[in-house]
Amino acid sequence: MAVAVYPGSFDPVTLGHQDIIERSSKIMDRVIVGVLKNNSKSPLFSVEERVNMLKSVTGHLSNIEILAFDGLLVDFVRQCHADVIVRGLRAITDFEYELQMSQTNRVISPGIDTIFLTTNLKYSYLSSSIVKEIAMYHGDISAFVDPDIAEKVLEKAKAVKKNARPVNK
Ligand code: COA
Repeated sequence: MAVAVYPGSFDPVTLGHQDIIERSSKIMDRVIVGVLKNNSKSPLFSVEERVNMLKSVTGHLSNIEILAFDGLLVDFVRQCHADVIVRGLRAITDFEYELQMSQTNRVISPGIDTIFLTTNLKYSYLSSSIVKEIAMYHGDISAFVDPDIAEKVLEKAKAVKKNARPVNK
């Protein structure tokens, strides 16, 4: 049975991520979406919120499971009894970072391979940070995320702005 892990921050999950999940679910027998807990990026959403958002947009796919993980990706892949990591490549700018990660992972865990899916052209410019930035300024994010996710991002952006202390000049 071919089992893959699709890891990331998913802060929040975008239509680009959903496209990679749906396509890998057709290629693999089982796909585990691994949501990174300890993130140097200081995520907007807690890991539980990110896991729940992913569950809500992948409920129609029977071979997808969403799990949070901490520590090394290769250890999580082994715990999942998976042998493949799936990553999306949006543009040439992703390539260097992805190559470095996949080669490092293969050195520290030779049995684990990475396969790359080219991101749908429609979403090749998209990132979670862009979605969050537009939401912070009350912009329209409906072209980038599922409607339920859009609602959550806009709510969270509002809460963050309300709690932000005014900057002393
Ligand atoms: N559509 C839309 N956006 C996409 C995308 C797609 N198909 N693919 C990637 N992105 C965006 C994400 O939204 C994210 O945007 P952001 O930077 O604005 O948040 C960005 O690309 C990259 O994020 P992501 O794919 O989530 O990767 P990451 O760099 O946050 O995390 C891990 C990558 C989790 C795989 C890596 O950090 C990891 O393995 N960590 C565990 C520790 C470890 O093992 N380290 C050694 C690795 S060699």
